[in-house]
Amino acid sequence: KPDTRSVMAGGRPLVALLDGRDCSVEMPILKDIATVAFCDAQSTQEIHEKVLNEAVGALLYNTITLTREDLDKFKALKIVVRIGAGFDNVDIKAAAEMGVAVCNVPSGSVEEVADSTLCHILNLYRRIVWLHMAVKDGSRPQSAENIRDLATGATRMRGDTLGIIGLGRIGTAVAQRAKAFGFNILFYDPYLSDGIGKALGFSRVATLQDLLYQSDCVTLHCNLNEHNHHLINDHTIKQMRQGAFLVNTARGALVDEQALATALKEGRLRGAALDVQNNEPFSYASSPLRDAPNLIVTPHAAWYSEQSCTELRESAAAEIRRAITGRIPDGLRNCVNKEYFPAHGVPGLAHPVHPWVVDSGINQQPQVASHETNGNYRYGMPMVGISGGGAPAPALDVAPPESVPSIRSSIPSTLVLPNPGIPGRASSASPVINRQSPVPGI
Ligand SMILES: NC(=O)c1ccc[n+]([C@@H]2O[C@H](COP(=O)([O-])OP(=O)(O)OC[C@H]3O[C@@H](n4cnc5c(N)ncnc54)[C@H](O)[C@@H]3O)[C@@H](O)[C@H]2O)c1
Repeated sequence: KPDTRSVMAGGRPLVALLDGRDCSVEMPILKDIATVAFCDAQSTQEIHEKVLNEAVGALLYNTITLTREDLDKFKALKIVVRIGAGFDNVDIKAAAEMGVAVCNVPSGSVEEVADSTLCHILNLYRRIVWLHMAVKDGSRPQSAENIRDLATGATRMRGDTLGIIGLGRIGTAVAQRAKAFGFNILFYDPYLSDGIGKALGFSRVATLQDLLYQSDCVTLHCNLNEHNHHLINDHTIKQMRQGAFLVNTARGALVDEQALATALKEGRLRGAALDVQNNEPFSYASSPLRDAPNLIVTPHAAWYSEQSCTELRESAAAEIRRAITGRIPDGLRNCVNKEYFPAHGVPGLAHPVHPWVVDSGINQQPQVASHETNGNYRYGMPMVGISGGGAPAPALDVAPPESVPSIRSSIPSTLVLPNPGIPGRASSASPVINRQSPVPGI
C-alpha cells in the first residue's frame, strides 16, 4: 500500500460512507479532521476511483460486501467501520493482512433487537399479526367458537422453554426479557466460558442437539461465521420438538430456508419469524418460503429506532476519529480483527501514530451531532446538500455549491468526478435513491 501522505490531497484524510448517502450525523464529528464523501454503492464496482485510491477510512452498513478482492481495490485504506454489530460482510482476516483495521459498533441496537425478538416471539405465541390480518380482511367473530377458530394455534408462554443459540449481548437481553413472560431459559453457546449461565441464572446445555430437543421456541442470536452457515437445516430441524417455533433476528444464512419451508408446510414447526433472510432485500415471490404457512417476515429492521440509528452512526464516526487521531489498531475501541494483525508490524503502516495528526485541537472529543446544515460530496455526482438531524437526503437533492455554504467553509476543494458507469445503476446525471429504505440494515 502506498504511503497515505502521498495520496491525500492537502494532507486531509478522506473518509467515505460506502453504502449510504446521508452523512449528516457523521459530518459534525469528522469535518474538522477529514473530508467526508458518500458513494451510495452496492458493490465496489460502483465506487469511484478517487475513493478507491485515496480513502483512508470507510464506513458501511451491511448492504455492501468487502471480500479480499474488494479490499484490495482500496489503495490507502486503514480503517473500516461497520455501522452495526455484525461484521460478516467484511473479510476481517484479509483486511488485517493488508493492515486495515475493521471495527464494529457492538452496543448501538442491543435493546432494539432484543425488543424486536420478543415482538416476534409474542406474535408467534399470541398470533397478533394474523388476528389483525383476519380483522382487516373482514372477519367479524361473534362468538367464543368464532374466536377459537380464528385464533387457533395461540398458546400460553408461561412454562414453555425458550432456547437461545448464542448468549452474547443480544441473546442475554432476550433471555432477561423472556424470563419476565414466564419462559424457562436454556442457552447454547460453545464459545462462552463456564460460569456465565450460573452468573446470569440461565441453564446451559452442552450441545445444539440438547437445546433443540428441549426447547418449545428456538431463537438465534449467534454471529454468522465460517462454522455456522445453515446451522438450522433439515437435519437440525428434525431435532426440534414437534410444533416448536423458530425465530431468527441474527443472520439469514444461519437458516436453510428450503428446509424451513418444508417443516412449516408439513407442520413439524408451528411457526417462524424471520427478520433476516438468505437474500436481502427479501422477496416473497422468489423465496422458497413463498407459500410457507405461519411465517412472519420483517425486512432486517430489528435494529432500527431513531435513537439507535443516531447512536450507531455517532459511535462509528467516533471510531474513525480515533483512527485518525490515534493508533491503529491499539487506539481503537471496537477493533474486531486485532488478533489477525501481523505480530511484527503492518506493512505500509510505517508510523504507529498517523502522520497527518498535526493540527492542534485534533484530539478533542467528538462533537455531538448538531442541527446545523452540513455537507458532503458524492463522487460521480455534483455536490449534494444534506440536512441535519439524521433525515435522509431528499430524492432531488442536487444543489448548486453556492446553496451549501458550510461545505465551502469546512472542506477545501470541490470534488466533482465522472461516474464510473456501472450497467444497471442510475447515472450521475440523474441522481435517484434507488432503494426503498432510506437507512440500510445493520
Ligand atoms: N436483525 C438486526 O437488525 C441485527 C442487529 C444487530 C445484530 N444482529 C445480529 O445479531 C448477532 C449477535 O449480536 P450480538 O451483539 O449479541 O453479538 P455477540 O458477539 O455479543 O454474541 C454472539 C454470541 O454468539 C455466540 N456464537 C457464535 N457462534 C455460535 C454457534 N455456532 N452456536 C452458538 N453460539 C454461537 C458467540 O460465542 C457469542 O457469545 C450479530 O452478529 C448480528 O449478526 C442483527
